Amino acid sequence: MQNRTVRLGVLGCGNVGGQLVQLIAARGHAVAERTGITLEVVNVAVRDATKTRPGIDPALLTNDAEGVVTDPNIDLVIELIGGVEPARSLILSALAAGKPVVTGNKELLANHGPELFAAADRIGVDLLFEAAVGGGIPIVRPLRESLIGERVHRLIGIVNGTTNYILTSMADAGASYGDSLAEAQELGYAEADPTADVDGFDAAAKIAILATIAFGKRVVTSDVHREGIANVRAADVDVAKRFGYVIKLLGVAEELADGSLSVRVHPAMVPTSHPLANVRGSFNAVFVEGDAVGELMFYGRGAGGRPTASAVLGDVVDAAVNLSKGTHASLGSFGPARFSPFDEMRSAYYLNIDVTDEPGVLAAVANVFGTHAVSIRSMEQEGLGAEARIVFITHAARERDIQACLLDLAGLKVVDRISSVLRLVGAD
Ligand code: HSE
Repeated sequence: MQNRTVRLGVLGCGNVGGQLVQLIAARGHAVAERTGITLEVVNVAVRDATKTRPGIDPALLTNDAEGVVTDPNIDLVIELIGGVEPARSLILSALAAGKPVVTGNKELLANHGPELFAAADRIGVDLLFEAAVGGGIPIVRPLRESLIGERVHRLIGIVNGTTNYILTSMADAGASYGDSLAEAQELGYAEADPTADVDGFDAAAKIAILATIAFGKRVVTSDVHREGIANVRAADVDVAKRFGYVIKLLGVAEELADGSLSVRVHPAMVPTSHPLANVRGSFNAVFVEGDAVGELMFYGRGAGGRPTASAVLGDVVDAAVNLSKGTHASLGSFGPARFSPFDEMRSAYYLNIDVTDEPGVLAAVANVFGTHAVSIRSMEQEGLGAEARIVFITHAARERDIQACLLDLAGLKVVDRISSVLRLVGAD
């Protein structure tokens, strides 16, 4: 074992950066015993170096991030600023200076990942990013390393804690979406502006990164079909429960038989027997389906300073060990992805339709399903008279056929309203 000190420059001292510096102080000794590497935090670049930060030695603080990246006394750079710029330029400068980089920057990697991976490989240094997806959950390294020989055909992730917290609270308390969101905001799970979480942007960025690594193809956020949870009603959660499902916001990335990809984020009904159904509250999980390995699930804290700092520290140790051996982990090449048209996607569906309660209504509605080759798996009428609703669960059907079916249903005189449409995932 070679003894060596690796000097670290940290960019950003928010929730994760602050926890990382404290974790290195607490765990540095154990890391040194196991690896021979002593980690030394030399500088922490922040916007305001005069601000007091609990647990951080003020002497470490600087507001010169570019200086940290180019400082010859710094061996390894940890980028925890977030956002695209200046993070992207700082990372490229650090790589160009031959320094390994560890980042947790989901937004940057989901939009510019392959460009940065190529730069790291060309220069021959590590670029590690376990913390960019799933907080403390090891998912990036297992996909990159353990499963590199596997044909992964599908990933299904609960990769946003805020929405999972809201949907769990709706299921447990029977509360409305609005009340559950307000509660999540009061408890600090949801931001004052919850758009990034509830409209699925955060999950889309994460599933783009996972799809890129799992399939070795370039997938960016704008390639992801995205629907959020704002239209999920307490009534749907209740019907789902009675039919044996829970509603989750899922990121799904699939490689279809013809090699095309389908990458999407949307709420879905998941059977209560599926392992993802038991991922509750703010927890995250990624369910992986591979040809040889079968089914795997990675579960844990998908956000939070300390769990995320743990993932960053794992990468830092890995990169520091590689640096001391003069080696690096190649990210491989990422070719262009071919995407399957969204309306070709197949899924089973849940439909909740308000109807007139009179003879012949069911036949009229069922006829529309038949016309579009959508096969009904189960059906239930709820309520009577003006309150009548029919709930359908279909067999797997093409998105395009379901959309055509919905259009025709909406045009029927006996249909007052199509109040909910949700896909089923994990039921096949
Ligand atoms: N806002 C995210 C979540 C955490 O709720 O999971 C940061 O990616």
